Amino acid sequence: MKTGGTRRDFLKAVGVAGGAGVLYETMGALGLAPTPAQAAVQDFAPPRAADLKVSGRGAPKVLVLGAGIAGLTTAYELGKAGYACRVLEAKGRPGGRNWTVRGGTELRDLDGQVQRASFSKGEYMNAGPARIAQSMVTLDYCRELGVALEPFVNQNADAYIHHDNAGALSGKSTRWRTAKADVYGYVSELLAKATDRGALDAELSSQDKERVLAFLRDFGAIGGKDQNFAYTGTSRRGYTVEPGAGDEAGAVLGPPPSMTDVFASLYGRRFSFEFGYDQAMMMLQPVGGMDRIAYALAEAVGSERISYRCEVKRITDLAEGVEVTYTDAGGRERVERADYCVATLQPMVLAKIPHNLGADVKAALTYPVASPVGKMGLEYTSRWWEERDRIYGGITPTDLDVAQIWYPSYGFHSKRGTLIGYYHFGANATAYGQLTPAQRVERAVAAGVKIHGEVYRSKLASTFSVAWHRTPHIEGGWVSWPSRTSGEYALLNKPAGHVYFAGDWLSYFIAWQSGAFDSARKVVTELHERVMAA
Ligand code: ALA
Repeated sequence: MKTGGTRRDFLKAVGVAGGAGVLYETMGALGLAPTPAQAAVQDFAPPRAADLKVSGRGAPKVLVLGAGIAGLTTAYELGKAGYACRVLEAKGRPGGRNWTVRGGTELRDLDGQVQRASFSKGEYMNAGPARIAQSMVTLDYCRELGVALEPFVNQNADAYIHHDNAGALSGKSTRWRTAKADVYGYVSELLAKATDRGALDAELSSQDKERVLAFLRDFGAIGGKDQNFAYTGTSRRGYTVEPGAGDEAGAVLGPPPSMTDVFASLYGRRFSFEFGYDQAMMMLQPVGGMDRIAYALAEAVGSERISYRCEVKRITDLAEGVEVTYTDAGGRERVERADYCVATLQPMVLAKIPHNLGADVKAALTYPVASPVGKMGLEYTSRWWEERDRIYGGITPTDLDVAQIWYPSYGFHSKRGTLIGYYHFGANATAYGQLTPAQRVERAVAAGVKIHGEVYRSKLASTFSVAWHRTPHIEGGWVSWPSRTSGEYALLNKPAGHVYFAGDWLSYFIAWQSGAFDSARKVVTELHERVMAA
């Protein structure tokens, strides 16, 4: 993928194109599906503590592999119901891809490159998940666990769009609002002309035509019939001189570029991003960093039940139960038995762990395709994007290899601030992943200078970058399924003996924490039903 991507590219990159989301949207439009509000959160009846007690069953022992969101949720929900859970985690922290990088955070990547973040106190980057949609079950866990939330600005009329390959507007940074006014304006002009000339008479009654024309005049801010419905630009584009007191009426930014130039700019392809069910404003983030969710879950599970720096070496399904071999924090090999195991590592990581779960499971684990994903945090000594550009949060999409720049949605008006200098996937992520951290900074800053000028370089204080596909125990930002109907997805959504699999990769919300929560809930429900039926 060359560019930062349109919504279509984005869906493709997260492996959900044509998946349930799209199907659901279509069904919803046809009136066949429940409304989003009704469909938002999957039904989940958590196992109750009384279930095991009242039926006189002992506490089944469950080994959970991975302390990411799926693993922690499994241990949390089963733990509440009286199960004896133990979580083995290869890293020294909970969260998995839910990872907030602060001053002191270290990363040794699969190429042996070491970074140590030197962000100032209070500054951080969410290296993994960074936004939560209002419909997502993630918010219910935030409520339950007392994780405070604040708005995440996913779309900002005052951010820019920057395209280097865009006809006459190449290399210009255009405010989102300006681009939108022009695209909506010209599209409205064309449609109004076609409607008025009778080109759509087969589709529209005369009353329909009147209504469509009235809509277009409002939607595109175009002239009336006497002006041939021309789009000539209005204050929706912005001002070169702000309106002020007394006689200062302001000067509207204009005139707009020609229709040809606006279509050649490809700006119009940016707007559908905000139509996405999972991407639409308003969105949320935890106050203080996304990892507040992971730490709250870990605390609720209980630190005595989570063992860090434990690497799983073998999974053996037994006639009765399961055995997991692992190395502990001191590097010693250990063997632990349990009644059940829930493996929540990404499939490409699981695929490399020896097991006796069968050739079909082995093959299925290699089937999903890992997505290269990269993100960089850039800390600045001033919040020049707020002071100078008057951008408070939001995203500037580009067709440069950084793909997009994010302005922080926290800490407005504080002294320093941390941008996301790139967040990209596909070929861009692969290319940056092959660079040293210093080379990545050089390349990303050069791209940012094109949009924001030299301040992008001169005020830079510190940086940190992650290439998820080159990160130990993770090995990909997320996965995509070449097909969900060829058997592998269904197979791994079932237990292999006493071993269950869970994670966002086994849901229709891949690359979202809600997928991990939902998958964990599904496994918890199925495992509990099995225990109660035994
Ligand atoms: N959920 C990921 C994002 O929002 C893919 O960027």
